Amino acid sequence: MAYNLLKGKKGIVFGALNEQSIAWKVAQRSVAEGAAIVLTNAPIALRMGELNKLAEECNAPVISADVTSNDEVKNLFTKTLEHFNGGVDFILHAPAMSINVRKGLHYTKNNYEFTHKGLDISALSLHRVLQTAMELDAINEWGSVAALTYIAAQRIFPDYNDMGDNKAMLESIARNWGYHYGVKKHVRVNTISQSPTRTTAGSGVKGFDGFINYAEKMSPLGNATSDQCADYAVTLFSDLTRMVTMQNLFHDGGFSFTGVTQAVIEQMEK
Ligand code: NAI
Repeated sequence: MAYNLLKGKKGIVFGALNEQSIAWKVAQRSVAEGAAIVLTNAPIALRMGELNKLAEECNAPVISADVTSNDEVKNLFTKTLEHFNGGVDFILHAPAMSINVRKGLHYTKNNYEFTHKGLDISALSLHRVLQTAMELDAINEWGSVAALTYIAAQRIFPDYNDMGDNKAMLESIARNWGYHYGVKKHVRVNTISQSPTRTTAGSGVKGFDGFINYAEKMSPLGNATSDQCADYAVTLFSDLTRMVTMQNLFHDGGFSFTGVTQAVIEQMEK
């Protein structure tokens, strides 16, 4: 059901790779709520071709940008400003990648070249996006920015590897920009800490099946799906949450505040 929550709003959605992507659902849901959007992803992701399907469905242009490149991020905003003939009201940040995870390098044996690259893509990119947006005055008054994160920023999940460090920095960058962009233009910046979700990035984590099943059993409401994450993101982009900023918002069915559940106790007693 749609409520027209984003009627007349314009946004940029980063990171839709395929139908499993959380950003894919956010794009669909934003448009269903009345928004006009621009889709963006890294050139390599665009070459896979799936994004065209979403672009057609959402009637959205696709503008390529590797989030580690100042020039490409600047080009994205310049073209978006032209396309909308003005600034945007919301941004979803969803790029993430760890080469250490991808190559199966244990946290105690990380390759720092890989660490730098992963940090740049997964965390610094939010800084780059917001710095560029501010320079070009590309976000409208009372705009809203949300970035996707995971509870491994606060707690150790061994196989999440250096992504835990990346997410901790991402959340800190969101808080800092929440202050600076808030003072300057009433723009709010939050992170959504989502349940483990079966996506390309998620499934790359070693032992993901065990991980997702454990979270399901440890959450009173069960794991939140990507569709439900999109519902939540839309509320943050809407005018109903104008005073929410600098927060790490758990969207996890209660996982983050649960000590233990009956289901886990029963499992342990087996
Ligand atoms: P996904 O694999 O569909 O999305 C990751 C995106 O990052 C892809 O679209 C990829 O092309 C993009 N990306 C990678 N390098 C890039 C670069 N250099 N420039 C621009 N874009 C780049 O996976 P998912 O799970 O939808 O990930 C979206 C966000 O949600 C990520 O921040 C992820 O860490 C976060 N998240 C995912 C969870 C999960 O269990 N899947 C749980 C909590 C947070």
